[in-house]
Amino acid sequence: MAHDSTTLSRPPGARDDWTIDQDWNAYTQAEHDVWITLYERQRALLPGRACDPFLKGLDSLDLHRAGIPDFNRINEELKRLTGWTVVAVPGLVPDEVFFEHLANRRFPAGQFIRRADQLDYLQEPDVFHDVFGHVPMLTDPTFADYMQAYGQGGLRALGLGQLHNLARLYWYTVEFGLLETPEGLRIYGAGIVSSHAESIFALDDPSPNRLGFDLERTMRTPYRIDDFQQAYFVIPSLQALLDATLADFGALYVYLAGAKDIPIDAVLPSDKVFTRGTQAYARRGGRTAA
Ligand SMILES: [Fe+2]
Repeated sequence: MAHDSTTLSRPPGARDDWTIDQDWNAYTQAEHDVWITLYERQRALLPGRACDPFLKGLDSLDLHRAGIPDFNRINEELKRLTGWTVVAVPGLVPDEVFFEHLANRRFPAGQFIRRADQLDYLQEPDVFHDVFGHVPMLTDPTFADYMQAYGQGGLRALGLGQLHNLARLYWYTVEFGLLETPEGLRIYGAGIVSSHAESIFALDDPSPNRLGFDLERTMRTPYRIDDFQQAYFVIPSLQALLDATLADFGALYVYLAGAKDIPIDAVLPSDKVFTRGTQAYARRGGRTAA
């Protein structure tokens, strides 16, 4: 799930907190088949690419069963492991609703699934992106605390006018984050692990920069919503990410209000460089040129 600061209106049938019933029995076999196709493709690709907590999360939630998971079933185990639950929502939700859910250890997940002709790209987060991509990491106690801290930080940031900076933190960590391990870089970001093509691009392609995570630097870097990223940020550990996020960002926002954005393809002298990207993919025109 992502959040959206544009004005959204609550769809008919959604509760005040924008949740709806998952209505698991209403999914068709064709919809379950879309999940199975996506699931099997990622399951074959991700060992050696996704980080251990993600792969372990898939196992502990038993997401290997065929078809779209029943949220009631996965919530029993998720709640036991870290106190999180998954709640169904119709699609994107407003910032304040999103932060409120995260601050209370509830992850809003899209109820619908993409069509069979949209396997590779979908702008709005569906149940595959949200549950396969996000929920396994929520079984990790440190990452679970990070997501809650992000929601609490979001509630504090409302009204301070710096939500675009905070959204970049989410984007470059929760959605597109990489983790440094003794075996090499591994994926923990949901936007990568739920995408077959980006699971390869993010680790193997010479085009993007791969840079050490730094809170302020990340918050000053714009991102791509429509294509592979031009920069990925690498955290040394989940604990380091959590530690960086527990502080009140009030003073940082005051600084950021007067700081310039960093160009999306820049490598700064202060960056820890894992890969200095060629940016060849973006220069060719990215997805539109493919
Ligand atoms: Fe997401």
